[in-house]
Amino acid sequence: MEQLNQEIKDKLEKVCICRGITKAAIKASVRNGKKTVEDIAADTGATLGGCKGFRCNAKIQEIIEGYGTEWN
Ligand code: FES
Repeated sequence: MEQLNQEIKDKLEKVCICRGITKAAIKASVRNGKKTVEDIAADTGATLGGCKGFRCNAKIQEIIEGYGTEWN
């Protein structure tokens, strides 16, 4: 149940506000082997919006670093 709640939250939470990219999409990209912000940008379009990653770059880095520890 807790995992389901987290999945729902991840689908609702926009990590990249400029491009409307959700936390769920970023996590999926990491699960698919993307290990850097640049790779995730190329995969999802995050960081490529109006602010050029100013607001989302650090959040994406945090998600990458949390993989295998805070989430799977
Ligand atoms: S919030 Fe991601 S490019 Fe602006």
